This record gives sequence, C-alpha cells and structure tokens, in this order.
Amino acid sequence: MDKLVVNKSGPLTGEVIISGAKNSVLKLMAASIMANETCVIENVPNLQDVRVMADILRALGMSVEWVESNVIEITPAEQLEIEPPYDLVQLMRASIVTMGPLIAKAGHARLAQPGGCAIGERKIDLHLKGFAALGADVKQTHGYVEGISNGLVGTTIYLDFPSVGATENIMMAATLAEGTTIIENAAKEPELVDLANFINKLGGNVKGAGTDTIRIKGVKSLGGTRHAVLPDRIEAGTFMVAAAITGGDVMIKNVMPNHLKAMTAKLIESGAEVEVFDDAVHVKATTPLKAVDIKTLPFPGFPTDMQAQFMALNAVAEGTSTITETIFENRFMHATEFALMGANIKVEGHSAIVQGCSELEGANVKATDLRAGAALVIAALVADGPTTIHNIYHIDRGYDRFEEKLMKLGVSIERIVGKY
Ligand code: UD1
Repeated sequence: MDKLVVNKSGPLTGEVIISGAKNSVLKLMAASIMANETCVIENVPNLQDVRVMADILRALGMSVEWVESNVIEITPAEQLEIEPPYDLVQLMRASIVTMGPLIAKAGHARLAQPGGCAIGERKIDLHLKGFAALGADVKQTHGYVEGISNGLVGTTIYLDFPSVGATENIMMAATLAEGTTIIENAAKEPELVDLANFINKLGGNVKGAGTDTIRIKGVKSLGGTRHAVLPDRIEAGTFMVAAAITGGDVMIKNVMPNHLKAMTAKLIESGAEVEVFDDAVHVKATTPLKAVDIKTLPFPGFPTDMQAQFMALNAVAEGTSTITETIFENRFMHATEFALMGANIKVEGHSAIVQGCSELEGANVKATDLRAGAALVIAALVADGPTTIHNIYHIDRGYDRFEEKLMKLGVSIERIVGKY
C-alpha cells in the first residue's frame, strides 16, 4: 500500500484552490439514477470515492464518462439494475444513498448491508424507517437490505436524529412519490442543499433544504441538467488548519465562507487571523496558537469531519483543551497515532483532553479514517520529522490531489508506492 513521507515544513505560503465537495458529488451522482435525461456534473473532484460511485452507476446500467478532467456526463440506463455489486458497495459506505433513488425509480433496491466502521456503528435504521413510512416494503435478510414498492406515497417523517444520509436518501425517494413528504428534524448540511438544488433543476420540487423542515412535492418524472458541485468545506477547513499550525500565510480560494463559520471562529479563537472574502478566505498566523475547546455538532455546529485536524492543532498549541465528539461513537482512533508522535492526549468516553506540547516527533503512523489521515499530515508539518503515514488509501478516497496542493504551498511530501 502507498504511504506518504512528510517532512517538517516552514510556514505554508501561497494560494490553494478548493475542489468540489466529496459529500455532495456522491449524492448528485446517486440522484442521477432518477433522471430520464443526461446529467452533466461540473467541478467534480478527482477522488477514489467518485470513481467507485461511477462504477456503481455503470453496474446499474448507466453510462458515466469524464468529458473533461473535472466534468462528468451521466446517461440513464435503458434497463436499470437494482443491485449494486457487493464488491463496490463494501468499498464505500455512501453507496447506501443509491437505495432511495433505486426504490423511487425502479421500485426495487437490494444492497449489501453496510457494516460498522472505524469511527462508529453507522446504523441505517433512519433511512429504512423513512422508506417504510413512504410505503416501501423493507427487509433485512442474509446480509442484504432490500426495499420494494409499487409506488411510494408522501407522508410526514420525523427523524430521531438529523442524519445527513437518511435525510438525503428519504428526500430522493420522496422526489418521485405521490403527494407531499415532509421531513422534520432534517439535517441542514450544505451538501444536502446542493442535492436539493440539483433535484429541483432535474424538475423535482424540494423546498426548505437547509432548514430543519424539508417539503418534497412528488413529481412523475425527472429530466436532466447541468450542475456544478459546491466547494468542499472540509477540504477548505483542512488547509485553513494547515496554514495556521505552520504559522503560514495562505489564500484559500473557491470556498463558500458561510459554510466555514464554525472553523473560522475556532481558528480566530486560537489566535490565527482569518480574512473573509466573497469566495476565499485568507489565513495567517504570526503568534503561537492557543488551545481551543471543540464540540462536534450537526451543521451549523462544528463539523465532526474537522475534529481530527483541530486535535492536531491543539496537540501543539499553548494550553489544555477538551474535544467532545457527539456525532460518532468512536472517532478518536487518531489520538493513539498522535501519541506515537509525542502528543499528550487522554481519551475519556466521548471527550479527549489534549495537553499542548512544544513539538511533535516524526514517527510511523497510520491513517485510521479519511479525516484522521489528513490530520496526521497536518501534525507531520510541525513534527521533528520525517513522519511516515501509512494506509493513505483513506486520504485518496476524499482529498483531490492533496500532495500536489500541499507541495505548491511549500511542503516537502513524497508518496512511496508500496506493494504491501
Ligand atoms: C455524512 C458524511 C460524513 C460526516 C457525517 C456527519 C457523506 C458521504 N458522509 O455521513 O463525512 O461525518 O455525515 O456530518 O456525506 N445514524 C443512525 N441511524 C441512521 C443514520 C445515522 O443512528 O439511520 C447515526 C450514525 O451512526 C452517526 C450519526 O447518526 O452516529 C451521524 O450519521 P449521518 O449524519 O447519517 O452521517 P453520514 O450520512 O453517514
């Protein structure tokens, strides 16, 4: 398996252009299952997860072509298959979002049941309750989850928790249902709003995305459209922390600053300077950073996908901080890896107490999930290196040309292509 060798960097300087959001493009691709005409998606990040989703759509009978380096064209299937292959589904948990569109369009979906993962149990009960409420017959047998319907019917669904995936899956299924569906206590993440905009451009009728009540008026069929993916707020946040931790000066372009408010506030609290423009943020740090307490929450709260990166920042900041994870049960695996680099972190249940130290040491560490991998790269930037990061397939799943972008900012980073 490939690994990254990262050397200690001076201050990061220059500019970086943020790619399209992983957590949006995958859902737009899934929604294309329902389209009767061609969909063109622009600003597509070059990611392993996108290639996996493209293969899933192809296995369902659709065609997915890269027409430019970051533009894909998706053509409907003549005959839609209803079962994405196990080998692809088990590579990416987000493949569960094909279930709503398949039930809506083909009246039937069958997927390998997603298991837990390193960061938590990752249940899908809310997705399934939603499909059942819309009238689908939902079964879980032999390690598969299946939904069958002769025609979904709109209803009111209250989510026990504002799950991003469940809100998106139910929103997509309801798009072709008869009548109106109301999702209450819906997730409000910006990627979900991008999905609603995409569905509406296809001819759907979704209102209220981005608030906790979403109304979907079912339509008979959807056409095609052209749509650009919104910028990746987590990639942006990752570069913001990388700039701050190295005492750098970086202009981060192609972002929606409104989506970065929680991270921006925490960086300012830590002593970094953040200047906000219409579609860019400028991050600069000239004084040592101070530790900041973090509590992850659904949007607009602090994103769980930025928790590990801020743990890296707190590990070398002045003072002690508490990081509380409320979204996933087990998202502190990276604390053990940071400890190998000399960080002083004590995990107690859902909280991690981080005592800042003056310098980290380079070590052999492994990415335990996608964001943990990025956080280790950030920590390596300020470690007395080199640091070798293993299992970087996690990083490749979700960061578009990460090394290339870091190198342009002055980082010495090398990929070692490995057999094992
Ligand atoms: C999405 C994002 C992920 C992000 C997360 C939270 C994608 C591809 N992934 O994941 O990067 O970290 O949102 O912002 O968009 N839950 C249940 N039952 C369900 C569904 C979820 O109990 O039916 C629980 C999960 O186990 C988890 C919590 O709800 O503890 C949050 O999950 P959810 O919001 O659904 O996250 P994902 O959509 O999987």
